[in-house]
Amino acid sequence: MAEFKTVRGMRDFLPAEAKLLRNVESKARSVAKLYGYKEIVTPIVESYDLLSAKAGEEVKSRMFLFKDLGGRDVALRPEFTASVARLVATTLRNEPRPFRLFSVGTIYRYDEPQRGRYREIWQTNYELMGSSRPEADAEILLLTNSFMQAVGLKKFAFKVGHIGVLKGVFAQEQLVENVQSAVMQLMDKKQYEDAFKLLESAGVSEKCMSTLRELVKLKGSDVKGIIDRIADLVKDYEKSVESAKNLSEILNLVVKSKCNIDLTVDAGFARGLEYYTGAIIEVYVPDLDVALAGGGRYDRLIELFGGDPTPAMGIAHGVDRIMLALQEQKRAQNLPQGLNEEKKVLVIPINQDLSGEALHISQMLVNAGVPTELEIMGRKMTKALEDANRRNMSYAVIIGERELKDGNVIVRDLVQRVQTKVKVEDVAEAVRN
Ligand code: HAM
Repeated sequence: MAEFKTVRGMRDFLPAEAKLLRNVESKARSVAKLYGYKEIVTPIVESYDLLSAKAGEEVKSRMFLFKDLGGRDVALRPEFTASVARLVATTLRNEPRPFRLFSVGTIYRYDEPQRGRYREIWQTNYELMGSSRPEADAEILLLTNSFMQAVGLKKFAFKVGHIGVLKGVFAQEQLVENVQSAVMQLMDKKQYEDAFKLLESAGVSEKCMSTLRELVKLKGSDVKGIIDRIADLVKDYEKSVESAKNLSEILNLVVKSKCNIDLTVDAGFARGLEYYTGAIIEVYVPDLDVALAGGGRYDRLIELFGGDPTPAMGIAHGVDRIMLALQEQKRAQNLPQGLNEEKKVLVIPINQDLSGEALHISQMLVNAGVPTELEIMGRKMTKALEDANRRNMSYAVIIGERELKDGNVIVRDLVQRVQTKVKVEDVAEAVRN
């Protein structure tokens, strides 16, 4: 039979990686709790219509799409946002606003596998629904900052833009929706020349072209300076001016929070997902050219799903890429990558006749909350101790006939290499100290 491999783009997480994954996940949960986000769990399989409604061509074309046995067109979720919006449009419709909702799990995209790009992807996702105010946008940004700090990332930076600036120009030019989306998809991939060609062929004005050519050059960390220049460039496009003002309000709040965030404003920044209507955000680190997180404001999705008009802002953090960045960081600092074993005990019977007693004592230890393994390979004492040392275990509890008759076992400290006789009932206490 052929050797089995994981399906292309899918990965196994071995213990050290699984531990890092769960660690990042637990930090995401703590941050959710600190900011008042409640966890929800939604299905991995959703209707294709829901997932594709505003996902944008790129994500749509990469969905794991199939018919279930009932003949329904379904897909593996390529993100969480559509599911959360569905909930708020239906089941949670009459609940008081705002909603602060958190999810963690896998999403699926048929992306071309490479470093930092997979087909099964872990995300921690936060949605803040019900407020159109700049405080909501600032909260998502600050929450992400807290999360990146909590996982221990250094030198991460935010890229921020506003989709309304571009959309304002397009709308005034009466550019049809699907061309707008196609242009934005190209801009998301930084294929600016292709985007301009498409605009020219759609017959937009000279003025529009020159405005956009100037806009995409505007980026930098002088927040006020860049936003002023954006506002000046788009002064004849009313909606774009409003958007620049909105971006300025959001970033003023962020600055006033005194969180010292590394921010770059980028006027030509667009995102692939089609539902965005306002501020958009991505997070980067110097060693990786792909985003560690992405999100933005989407004020019309819930309404589109049949719910009440509900402005919303959200972000998803790419856990796989955060793990990659953390591993890179450790490598750069020469820190050990492996699994940090916690204190552990190996219970070794001197001979097989004492297996029952050994099992009894290891159960006592486990019930007392001590991580304990039983020697189950039938190894002789020297081999068993060698194995315990190799695995950096802290103690061996040796069960011998003679000691047991007096109600004792031998506790061997594998680090100090000393051993003592201990009463059976005191073993848990002995290995804890
Ligand atoms: P997104 O930018 O498509 O946004 O994905 C968010 C993050 O997921 C990315 O920044 C990246 O870290 C990670 N990611 C995406 N695709 C891959 C991949 N193929 N391999 C590894 N990591 C990947 C969303 O998903 C939106 N739902 C975010 C959002 C929430 N907007 C509003 N609310």
